[in-house]
Amino acid sequence: MAIDPTSPVPKYSQLRDLLLDWIVETGLSVDDPIPSERELGQRYGLSRMTVRQTIDLMVSEGKLYRVPGKGTFLARPKIEMSLALASFTEDMRARGYRPGAQDLVRRVLPASGSTARAMGLAPETPVHHIERLRTADGEPMAVERSNIPVDLAPGLDRHSLAGRSLYAVLEQEYGIILDSGEQTIEAGVCDPADAKLLGLPQNSPVLSMRRRSFANGRCVEMATSRYRADRYTLHSRLDPRR
Ligand code: GLP
Repeated sequence: MAIDPTSPVPKYSQLRDLLLDWIVETGLSVDDPIPSERELGQRYGLSRMTVRQTIDLMVSEGKLYRVPGKGTFLARPKIEMSLALASFTEDMRARGYRPGAQDLVRRVLPASGSTARAMGLAPETPVHHIERLRTADGEPMAVERSNIPVDLAPGLDRHSLAGRSLYAVLEQEYGIILDSGEQTIEAGVCDPADAKLLGLPQNSPVLSMRRRSFANGRCVEMATSRYRADRYTLHSRLDPRR
């Protein structure tokens, strides 16, 4: 396939599609180099500027990565996160990754006004505030901040969550089985503290999620999570309209 100069599709975008095909056809592996900008320009009859625009785009999409002075390489595929009431642990295992968690903060706090409202609690109701760094195969993936009413899970602060699933602890120790939930997801950038935890440059893009999970009509968890946008993509099945 070649670049079509008469196509309304911009040349940098055509080159992106050609490169994606070339990656599949040649069976390129993760961390393998792609041809240099000069070679690509010659091969497809494009200016160096257009080639650079394509590579910039593919780097920002997380498909390629650059190593200064060395070249451009094929990045690992992003992890698909299902839009379901699954725990991080279940989600990672289903995709063949080893899930992990590092406890950052564990405290009992009076719920803030907005947290209490969102959870249907009286102002200042005590909640377990849990902040964790989530990892997949040891690599930082997300910072998660959860709030859980203390009356639903008394003594939760005594259970270590390092390397353990919160949802499994809620089920096994407190008999709480989450039966519904809702989640909003928006684009964001990480603040300096989260950037440090995630090992990313400041202001890197993140997927910012807010989830409320319920059991028997009561809000059990209100969580905000920041997932690395360079490693995550959201996946949802679309059912026919009813
Ligand atoms: C997801 C949700 C969080 C929840 C977590 C529980 O990541 N976004 O709100 O706290 O799952 O995961 P685990 O049971 O692995 O601790």
